[in-house]
Parts: sequence; C-alpha cells; structure tokens
Amino acid sequence: MKTQVAIVGAGPAGLLLSHLLHLEGIASVVIESRTREEIEATIRAGVLEQGTVDLLAQSRVGERMQREGLRHEGIYLRFAGVSHRIALSELTGRAITVYAQHEVIKDLVAARLAAGGTILFGVKDAALYDLDSDSPKVRFRHENALPEISGDFIAGCDGFHGVSRPSIPSRHRHEFTRSYPFGWFGILVEAPASTDELIYAHHERGFALVSTRSPQIQRLYFQCDPEDNLKRWPDARIWEELHTRLAGSDDWKLAEGRIFQKGIIAMRSFVVEPMRYGRLFLAGDAAHIVPPTGAKGLNLAVNDVRVLASAFSRYFKSKDEEALAAYSATALKRVWRAEHFSWWMTSMLHRFHDDTPFQHRIQLAELDYVVNSKAKALTLAENYVG
Ligand code: DHB
Repeated sequence: MKTQVAIVGAGPAGLLLSHLLHLEGIASVVIESRTREEIEATIRAGVLEQGTVDLLAQSRVGERMQREGLRHEGIYLRFAGVSHRIALSELTGRAITVYAQHEVIKDLVAARLAAGGTILFGVKDAALYDLDSDSPKVRFRHENALPEISGDFIAGCDGFHGVSRPSIPSRHRHEFTRSYPFGWFGILVEAPASTDELIYAHHERGFALVSTRSPQIQRLYFQCDPEDNLKRWPDARIWEELHTRLAGSDDWKLAEGRIFQKGIIAMRSFVVEPMRYGRLFLAGDAAHIVPPTGAKGLNLAVNDVRVLASAFSRYFKSKDEEALAAYSATALKRVWRAEHFSWWMTSMLHRFHDDTPFQHRIQLAELDYVVNSKAKALTLAENYVG
C-alpha cells in the first residue's frame, strides 16, 4: 500500500489528523491494534477546550458535540468544606464543553468512513522501518496477511505504550518523566447532576472530582492508591469515601445512583523531545502524558495534530518543509505549558503520602489565593480553557 501519511493509532490524534488531512486533499491510512468496538467504548476524559470545540466544529465533525455537549462557563474549587467558583468565561471570554472522548472518536470514525477513508482495525505486530529515508514504512499483521504501507511520512499517534516512540533510536530521544504516588478511581453513575459545574475538591483524605456526562449520567473520581484493586471498593465504600471528601458546611450534597463502570487511572507527567525523528512525527500521548487534573490530555493531542496537519499541508502544496521543521518546537511550547498547569493543579489538590501538616496548610493558602486573587484565578482560568 502506498499513501501520503501513514498514521499509527486511531485515537483522537490519529483520527483527527486523518480527517484534517482529508479536508486538505491529502491521503492517509490509519492502522489500529484494537477493534472499532473497543475504541468506541473506552471510557476516557471528557472536557474539551474552546479551541478543541472550535476546530471540531470548523472541520465539520462537531454537529453531535454541539447538540449533546454541555457548555460550562465555570468550575468550582472546593476546600475546607466550601465551594468557590472560578468564573472561566467572565475571566477569559471562553468556555469548556463536556463531551466524552469516545463520543469524539465515534464522530471521527463515522466521518472518515463516510468519506471513504481507510482505517484498518485489529492490526498486530506493527513495526516502523526506514524512518530516516524518503520512504518510511509500517509493516504489520492484518487478517492473516503481512501488509506494508509506505508513505511520505508516518504519524505516530499510538499512545504512550505504542511502537512509534520506541522506534526512535534512544540517542535521539530526550525523555522527561515524573510519576505520582497515587491514581484516580473513576466511576460512571446513573444519577441526576448534583452540580451545574465541575467540582475539584481538596480534602485531607485526598482529592475528589465531580464531573458529568449528561443530565442522566455522572462521572466521579477520587484519589486512590494506583495499585488498589477494584474488588476492594464495593459501591457502599465508594459512596462513603466520596461523601466524606465532598462534605462541607454548606448544604450541598452529592446525589447517589447506580454505579455501572469502575476503573483506576495511573498518573504521570511525561514528555519526549523532539517530537520528530526523520520522517516520523509523534502526536498526542505517544509524545507526552499529563496527569488528568486539569483535563489537558485530549486537548493537547488535538493541538498537536492541528499544527501537524497544517505543516503537512504546506509541504504537499509547495514542498515547503519549514513548518514541518518547526513542528516539534511549536507543539512542545504548548505541551510544556500544559505540563506545568497539570502538575500545578495536581500538586495543589492531592494528598501526598509524605505530606506534613505544613504542606497541607500551604495547599490551603494557595487555594485561598486562587479564589481571592483575580490574577491567580485568571491564571487558572486561561490555562483551563486553553
Ligand atoms: C474529567 C476528567 C478530568 O481529568 C478533569 O480534570 C475533569 C473532568 C471527566 O472525565 O469528566
């Protein structure tokens, strides 16, 4: 198979890249190790920045998002038992939209297939070759055949555990990592919304987050041991923990409901530099991970492919390589801003195992400053909306 851009991975980065390239008249083939059913059902994040929403709408894959997504103009920080609103829209003129990542995936898969795009699902043993030549290749197993795709370029959009990043010789990779000694326990609940906007809660037992998916489905998280076992968390224990961490002196109360999905998410910060090797370009989680506090992961992936699609377009229109040469530095600027923001939000809101009473008071002092200083609230708001 020959194509212009071979895309490894059908997550948000790979699918959106394929879609944006198609709008520019550039051919691509997407390969994915999982099935279509799996990628369309995997529960991930759900907060879209204004810029993400605008790009999906402008590129004509935002119709359902605009109908079903929930636009929020603020968030709450809850600490010492009281909620404080950060007025995102008043401060920045922008808003966020709550719309699940797997719904974005469904919309993108549908758009690619309707346009006659090629996505090969269930591909095994993908390996990248000749990355420093003019004709990089991907070989893999698919339906008992051993096909090869050669492209002008390869886009590595296959996530943190994918083959793309390790295909770069280690001497050409600089990796920056921080892991956190906790995870998030996430649940989906059939219940009415308890709050009109997301609540990020600081508590001495650890962080908790009240989010939503629809008027009938709520998404809740609480900080946990990353090695914890779902079996140790029967529903009653989950509710008790959430009520404790969200308790307060106001009369706000979390509504309970039927829990129909549970999972534990690990937390890490990671960046590889540069995001390019020869004719391989990395985008999304293949190149960087943020802890989920602040909801930047999907939005960073979208920003990467916005920059990358435009650089490919310039190359294929006029053989101008300048934008491609600038891709890594351009994307990394935004990546490091989000790395800092996500690390800051995580540090301010979580309990660390070696916390002292002094550190607890320092967190409260910072939270108090964020909600009482317009400058600090604006710092949070402009990073949050993107
Ligand atoms: C959600 C996830 C996040 O990481 C976050 O910061 C806010 C909301 C969510 O899944 O709804």
